[in-house]
Amino acid sequence: MDSEFFYPSKEVVKNANVKEYDNLYKKSVENPEGFWSERAKTLEWFKKWEKVLDDSNKPFYKWFVGGKINIVHNAIDRHLKTWRRNKLAVIWEGEPGDVRTFSYHALNREVSKFANVLKSMGVRKGEIVTIYMPQIPELMFAMLACAKIGAAHSVVYGGFSVEALAGRIQDAKSRVVLTADGGFRRGKITDLKGIVNEAVKRSATVEVCIVVKRTGHEVFMENDRDFWYHELMGLPIASAKCKTEIMDSEDMLFILYTSGTTGKPKGLLHTHGGYAVYTSTTHKFVFDIKDEDRWWCAADPGWVTGHSYIVYAPLINGATILMYEGAPNHPYPNRWWQMIEKYGISILYTSPTAIRGLMRFGDQWPQRHDLTSLRLLGSVGEPINPEAWKWYHKVIGQEKCPIMDTWWQTETGGFMITPLPITPLKPGSGTKPFFGNEVAVVDDKGNEVPVGEEGKLVIKTPWPGMARTIYGDAERYREVYWKEFEKQGWYKAGDSARIDKDGYVWIIGRIDDVIKVSGYRLGTAEIESALVSHPAVSEAAAIALPHEVKGNSIHTYVILRAGVSAGKQLEEELKNHVSKEIGPIAKPEDVTFVDSLPKTRSGKIMRRVLKARAQGLDAGDLTTLEE
Ligand code: WT7
Repeated sequence: MDSEFFYPSKEVVKNANVKEYDNLYKKSVENPEGFWSERAKTLEWFKKWEKVLDDSNKPFYKWFVGGKINIVHNAIDRHLKTWRRNKLAVIWEGEPGDVRTFSYHALNREVSKFANVLKSMGVRKGEIVTIYMPQIPELMFAMLACAKIGAAHSVVYGGFSVEALAGRIQDAKSRVVLTADGGFRRGKITDLKGIVNEAVKRSATVEVCIVVKRTGHEVFMENDRDFWYHELMGLPIASAKCKTEIMDSEDMLFILYTSGTTGKPKGLLHTHGGYAVYTSTTHKFVFDIKDEDRWWCAADPGWVTGHSYIVYAPLINGATILMYEGAPNHPYPNRWWQMIEKYGISILYTSPTAIRGLMRFGDQWPQRHDLTSLRLLGSVGEPINPEAWKWYHKVIGQEKCPIMDTWWQTETGGFMITPLPITPLKPGSGTKPFFGNEVAVVDDKGNEVPVGEEGKLVIKTPWPGMARTIYGDAERYREVYWKEFEKQGWYKAGDSARIDKDGYVWIIGRIDDVIKVSGYRLGTAEIESALVSHPAVSEAAAIALPHEVKGNSIHTYVILRAGVSAGKQLEEELKNHVSKEIGPIAKPEDVTFVDSLPKTRSGKIMRRVLKARAQGLDAGDLTTLEE
């Protein structure tokens, strides 16, 4: 039915970087290596690759084998030889309203100086530096400075707390931690340094901690371990001349932790070469990036969205980036719309949660502002409900901005299923696979399910942006993503989806024990282990239930230890305990005290039973239920 489509305007089609999908897609999947090697040629290499794809050791694929590159050379250095040297790279606005701007020239100066500081602290190629910062320019400098000298970064989202941070520092065995005295969020100061101090107590490897002064509030600094960023940057050692390290294509660029089905978060590992090619291509094709654009990805650099589409891809494409520190509704719900007007933002990329949250305040807030500079919009993180899609399209996009609903994951590095600006859109669908990618929706045996039916989403072909492994646990990488469809050699995404008669993909949600809250990814196992770490708790289960704004919210069930009595006060205490251990995003909506939990005979908690009961639904097949 054609009426369900939203067609792009002639204007959009005429100006698009990519004007055609079907033929180009066909060619790209017939010869993905040809497609990707053409794209790789748009970057600067110190030495050209010998082989585009090495699939001799599946599922550990390698891309642009033998090539020498550094992503920072492409994100910064090569622009300095052109007129872009004096182009704005970053416009940054703090929550209190302070503004700082950096041209590519200035960005290079800051990154080079900090790279020299890191070197003076003994940071070496291959080591992993943990970064735990608010959304300030120094976060970006820190990531780029690590990459420039060949060190890898592990950015931990500033909303995470002691336990989450300590676990990540320990897993990466970081010797150096970069942080700040705090950041601003809804007018309050987040105590990042206090959390680092606690986390470092639990992490024996940390020798150096560099602290950016952001808020000026007093923090504890340990002698001989903690240093102020601004003091180091003022020393002669912080020279603005720094050579960009020559890296192998397949050298580690960063690890980024994400939640999985079981156990502790896993550090997905990404590399210099393939990741640079994949992120810059997807960004340029999908968001139609042009030199005159002002690009705003309103995510946090602590997540993969920020890594790929605040930092690396936009810089490689020579874009002007807006970065904002704080909350969307501070001090008023027009904060974002005000910034779009103030800076003339042309592309906004955000999450369904943020859209739903802002929609709630009513049309009068955006309507007070001039949003005519916008020409494209984007959405990521979870399925977008058609109501929010239509509001975003009408009220923010003034019915002229196509919405790029991009489906991807920490593991994929960049967009996998996504429209292009020229694609006829259906609200709520990510439409079709990006060039080079073949996807399918299959049953447990790997047979494609009939049109319109639900099944498991798989990716049938490797792509340059794919994670190479889980840091320190290659076996787990194989097990989690590749084992189920090993015979076919497919990547299992962990999402369920359906494909309609027009070939459009509709993501339904996670099929594993991963919960998406406000687009953030959390594992039921992490929440449960935080609960069980409280002395009152003997057993716990966490499930997700639908939530109007957040998409999902966390509901928990707890069995108390003998002699402990349930009550409102304990419920509050447990909710706060989870928030303190993992971070405020993991705070449960409620805690229900129970005497037993539904389990299989082998002792696994049957979360789907809890979920069905909570929703008043039939729990389905209960034959494996023990009690
Ligand atoms: C999971 C990955 C990739 C950036 C942020 C999330 C869900 C992501 C969409 C979308 C429906 C989406 C999936 C996926 N997801 N984008 N456009 N439509 N669902 O990265 O934290 O690794 O989470 O987010 O469930 O598996 P992530």
